[in-house]
Amino acid sequence: MNSPPQEHHLALLGFGNVGQAFARLLLEKENTLREEKGVAFRVTGIATGSHGRVIDPAGIDLEKALSLRQSGDPLDPISTSKTKTSRDFIQECPADVLFESTPVNYQTGQPALDYLRAALQRGMHVITANKGPVVHGYRELVDLTRNRGRSFLFESTVMDGAPVFSMARCGLPAAEVTGIRGILNSTTNLILTRMEQGQSQEEAVAYAQSMGIAETDPSGDLDGWDAAVKTAILVNVLMKTPLKLTDVDRTGIREINQKEIKEAAEKNKRWKLVCSAQRQEGRKSGVLAQVQPRLVEPSSPFYHLSGTSALLQVESDVLGTLTLQEEEPTTMTTAYGFLADFLNVVKNGTSSGQL
Ligand SMILES: NC(=O)c1ccc[n+]([C@@H]2O[C@H](COP(=O)([O-])OP(=O)(O)OC[C@H]3O[C@@H](n4cnc5c(N)ncnc54)[C@H](OP(=O)(O)O)[C@@H]3O)[C@@H](O)[C@H]2O)c1
Repeated sequence: MNSPPQEHHLALLGFGNVGQAFARLLLEKENTLREEKGVAFRVTGIATGSHGRVIDPAGIDLEKALSLRQSGDPLDPISTSKTKTSRDFIQECPADVLFESTPVNYQTGQPALDYLRAALQRGMHVITANKGPVVHGYRELVDLTRNRGRSFLFESTVMDGAPVFSMARCGLPAAEVTGIRGILNSTTNLILTRMEQGQSQEEAVAYAQSMGIAETDPSGDLDGWDAAVKTAILVNVLMKTPLKLTDVDRTGIREINQKEIKEAAEKNKRWKLVCSAQRQEGRKSGVLAQVQPRLVEPSSPFYHLSGTSALLQVESDVLGTLTLQEEEPTTMTTAYGFLADFLNVVKNGTSSGQL
C-alpha cells in the first residue's frame, strides 16, 4: 500500500500576477502532485502589500482568494489574522515554504532581501521570483541555507520558469561554465520587434504596457537594469563568480530610434539587447559582463528571436555551447518555476541555488 502523501504548508508573500498564477497552477496540479509525486499541500498564508493578509492554519480557500483579488477586492473577507506587516506575517504564518513574489528593487533588493533572511532564519525553505534579493544577497542567503538546513531556490528569476538553474545544477555537474550570452529581457525584445513593424519607441512601450509586460515606469527595461540584474545573477550562480550589479557594463535601448532600426533592416540586420559574460584575466572581478544593444546577423540565433521570447547560451569546458530558448512566456511560465522549485525542495529536503 502507498504511504499517504506528505503535506507541506505554503505561504505566499506577494499575490499579484505571479502569486495568483501560482495559486491557479497549484489548483490545476493538485491531483497530479498527490497521485504522481506523493505531495500534498495546504496554503496557510497569503500576504499582499495593500490588499490584506490572511493566515489560516486549516488552509486558505484559494478559489475564494483568487476571486477576491480578480475583482479588485482585498483579502479581508477571508482573513482570520490580525497580522499588520509582512515581517509579522513571516514570523506568524505556520508554513514550511515561503514563495516570495513582491516587486523588484534593482538598487538594493529590499525589502524582499530582509523578508527572505527572516524566513530562512525562522526555518522556512525560501523560493523567490524576485531578482533583487538574489543579485544583492545570493552568497549570504546560500550561507543561511547551509546553517539552517533549508533551501533557497529562484528558478523564476531568469527566463521565467525555464529550467536555467535546475539544468545547470542537475545537468552540468563538475562542469566549468566559462561564459553566457543571451537575450533575457522580454520587454525590450518586444519593443524592438514592434519598432521594426513601424512603431516609435514610445508607441512600442505603450503597447508593452497595455499588455501588462512593461511597468508604468519602463526605465528598468529601457535602461537595461532588468537585463543587467539577470546577467549578474547568472555570473554569480552559473559561473560561480561574485559580481555586483554595478560591475555589469550596461547600456539600454533608449538611444535606438526608427532611423537605426531602418538602417539595420537595410543591411539585413536587427538590433537586439544582448547580455554577455566571459572570463577575462586582468579584470578585478575576473569576468567581463555586459548588457549592450548589438546588431545581429541572420546567422545568429538571436536574429530569429521576436516578441517576448528569450534565449540563453551557456558555454562550458565540457559541453561547448548549450542553448535554451523559451517562446512567448506568460505568468504561468513564471508560476511553473515556483512549482518546479517546490518539487525540488520536496525531493531534496535541502538545497540551495548554488551549483
Ligand atoms: N510578471 C512576471 O511575469 C514575472 C516574471 C519573472 C519574475 N517576476 C518577478 O516576480 C515579482 C512579482 O511580479 P508580479 O508581476 O507578480 O508583480 P505584481 O503583480 O505587482 O504583484 C506584486 C505583489 O506583491 C505585493 N506586495 C508589494 N509590496 C509588498 C510587501 N512589502 N509585502 C508583501 N507583499 C507586497 C503586492 O501587493 P498589492 O497587490 O497590495 O500591491 C502584489 O500582491 C517581481 O519581483 C517580478 O520582477 C515577474
